[in-house]
Amino acid sequence: MKWLENKVAIVTGAGNGMGRATALLFAEEGASVVLGDVDEIGGSSAVEEIISSGGKAVFVKCDVSSESEVKNMIATAKREFGGLHTIFNNAGIEQPKIPSVDVTEELFDRVIGVNLKGTFFCCKHAIPLLLESGGGAIVNNSSVSAFANVGGNISYGSSKGAIMSMTRILAIEYSRQNIRVNAICPGVIDTPMNQRNLDLAVDQAATRQMWMDNTPIGRMGTPLEIARTVLYLASDMSSFTTGIGLLIDGGRVAT
Ligand SMILES: NC(=O)c1ccc[n+]([C@@H]2O[C@H](COP(=O)([O-])OP(=O)(O)OC[C@H]3O[C@@H](n4cnc5c(N)ncnc54)[C@H](O)[C@@H]3O)[C@@H](O)[C@H]2O)c1
Repeated sequence: MKWLENKVAIVTGAGNGMGRATALLFAEEGASVVLGDVDEIGGSSAVEEIISSGGKAVFVKCDVSSESEVKNMIATAKREFGGLHTIFNNAGIEQPKIPSVDVTEELFDRVIGVNLKGTFFCCKHAIPLLLESGGGAIVNNSSVSAFANVGGNISYGSSKGAIMSMTRILAIEYSRQNIRVNAICPGVIDTPMNQRNLDLAVDQAATRQMWMDNTPIGRMGTPLEIARTVLYLASDMSSFTTGIGLLIDGGRVAT
């Protein structure tokens, strides 16, 4: 049995990292997938990978901080595949670790614009289509930084904390209309984003070691470990779960 047979899914930030792994797993589990990303090369190659494995997928160039581009991405799900059952609001950008007083208005607005406003636009425009389908599941990508101070990235941590609030508000608002809204809260995951974070570190080996030391399981998580958790929250496996932020952090917040 496939968990997303005959379902239509959207994944944002699907060209790389966790989004890409999730789009591939959703397709493997039977979903027709709309992949949204600003990265056309990454997004298109993920679609090619899905189609060559016998799945159904389409790429839409979409900057989630633009409401009109989000509307177009969501309309694509209806136009290409007839509706929508689940959306993984995953697209996000990092903030370089710098003192909070050095964060410019422009940098703060950019991170909040993609991470928080982007998640809002995607929820706002997905909900009417989910209601048309009789309900569905939203999964937002928050972060361990919504629960623990990971230090030095005030716009990023603030955006991820606010995504948790947004998740709870929408979960309660739509709980009687069969829409479940949950978030995942990853710890340190081995993706291009963290490679960029490492590239900025003065001592990469020491930074990587610090990440391991802060993670009781002693390693970085993988995009596939995230994708499996998203599949759980996006499918009927989690039919009695709404309004949560599920930590996938190798024990980080338990310390
Ligand atoms: N990597 C981690 O350790 C970690 C931990 C916790 C949370 N997260 C969150 O997980 C999500 C995915 O992160 P990742 O590590 O896979 O990152 P990544 O950089 O590897 O992939 C992110 C994808 O989002 C796309 N993207 C960026 N801005 C966009 C925009 N405005 N509109 C549409 N797409 C856009 C990128 O092109 C890229 O394909 C992010 O929201 C991130 O904040 C990451």
